[in-house]
Amino acid sequence: MRVLVIGSGAREHTIVWKLLLNPEVRDVFVAPGNGGTHLIARNLDQPQTDFWGIAQAVREHRVDLVIVGPEGPLVGGLVDFLAGGGVPVFGPTQAAARIEGSKGFAKDLMQRYGIPCARSQTFDWAVAAHVFVDRLAEPIVVKADGLAAGKGVTVAFSREEAHQAIADIMERRVFGDAGERVVIEEYLEGQEYSFFAVSDGETVVPLTAARDYKRAFDGDQGPNTGGMGSYGPPAFISSQLADLTMRTVMEPTIRALAREGSPYRGVLYAGMMLTRDGPKVLEFNCRFGDPETQVVLPRMQTDLAELALACVDGRLSRLPVTFSDEACVGVVLASAGYPEQVATGLPITGLDRLDEGVRVFHAATRVRRSAPWTRTSWLAGTDREPSNLDELLSGQVETAGGRVLTVVSTGPTVAVARRRVYENIARIRFEGAFYRTDIAAEAEES
Ligand code: AMP
Ligand code: GLY
Repeated sequence: MRVLVIGSGAREHTIVWKLLLNPEVRDVFVAPGNGGTHLIARNLDQPQTDFWGIAQAVREHRVDLVIVGPEGPLVGGLVDFLAGGGVPVFGPTQAAARIEGSKGFAKDLMQRYGIPCARSQTFDWAVAAHVFVDRLAEPIVVKADGLAAGKGVTVAFSREEAHQAIADIMERRVFGDAGERVVIEEYLEGQEYSFFAVSDGETVVPLTAARDYKRAFDGDQGPNTGGMGSYGPPAFISSQLADLTMRTVMEPTIRALAREGSPYRGVLYAGMMLTRDGPKVLEFNCRFGDPETQVVLPRMQTDLAELALACVDGRLSRLPVTFSDEACVGVVLASAGYPEQVATGLPITGLDRLDEGVRVFHAATRVRRSAPWTRTSWLAGTDREPSNLDELLSGQVETAGGRVLTVVSTGPTVAVARRRVYENIARIRFEGAFYRTDIAAEAEES
């Protein structure tokens, strides 16, 4: 089997790594990939926005399955585009991906089908939104309707801040077209968790839950980021809570989308808040999470290619989907200054000094040829020898952006996995590297 993965983050490196555990998967291509996927698969020089280029690559490399990682191409209609040409693609269609692409659409669907979420109102023009905010008690949550790279949500603790957020989104258009509409919603208090399920359009199967840490610094301080670490399964998620999330959120959402004529095939990711009144949806995503994938897939016992094909072919009800009881922890190593501007091109060292079983999933890295490699440095994060070994042995991995890599370990308990990650992440160095030291700490305390 030949598989093409779309995307360039640590999520995609993890997907590629997981695919390669299946001996029937002969080749994995990644468009555009990163330094990590370069070590274990074949990066293609195709940006994820170039649908024609991707379709051409599918034909040229006789790809049997495409897995789309990020939301951009899903919401942009890549699945429709490729499936129109008869290619099996794992991921929702453009219509189904609106569950992430438009918060207003998601809210409307949830309200009509009785799926628990924060009370909210959607506005097409700023004046009405400003008037509405004046009647609300703080805190007030203001969200850009469309995709805003995880930055479109403001939890405003004063009305002034809420007005400012509306102005930024709708008047100054800091997120471009994503700010055509704004969703204003009730503030929910509780424990946050990410819940993942897969669907073939009809059958919905739970994967697992994970925690994400969105703030840059320890103690949930500092600016929001794409995610600084993750672990699973979270200490507070009982099997009853997982069942309740399936019954009240995942199943009715998949049924609702089918009823509305947009059957959902792919991973459905619910950002959840466990409130005093039970679990409520904060947002839906139409894909695997990042950094959650880095701790979800190492625990998944089911083969990923098989799972993806079962979803594409509508055979999910016949596939057992299982997870190991192990815990998994992932900590992101980021560049100084992230999530603001960062320096790039800094050499990364220590990748060859990691304990066995500890994995490194790359995000913003690239391989520069010239500096010497050791055998173990490219083996970090892979179980298979790459075919381009000679080339790799003469390259050097360097940083290429803000979130550089995720260091991941499984273990019999969260505490053990966590200790292994922190022992190892300290050995990886580049100028200005930083990471949170409190990822999964709450599980250790409990
Ligand atoms: P989202 O991109 O919708 O997941 O929002 C980003 C973050 O904002 C979430 O992870 C929550 O921490 C927070 N958030 C979003 N909606 C609400 C809400 N209604 N109440 C409280 N916090 C929220
Ligand atoms: N973990 C946040 C996201 O994937 O959107």
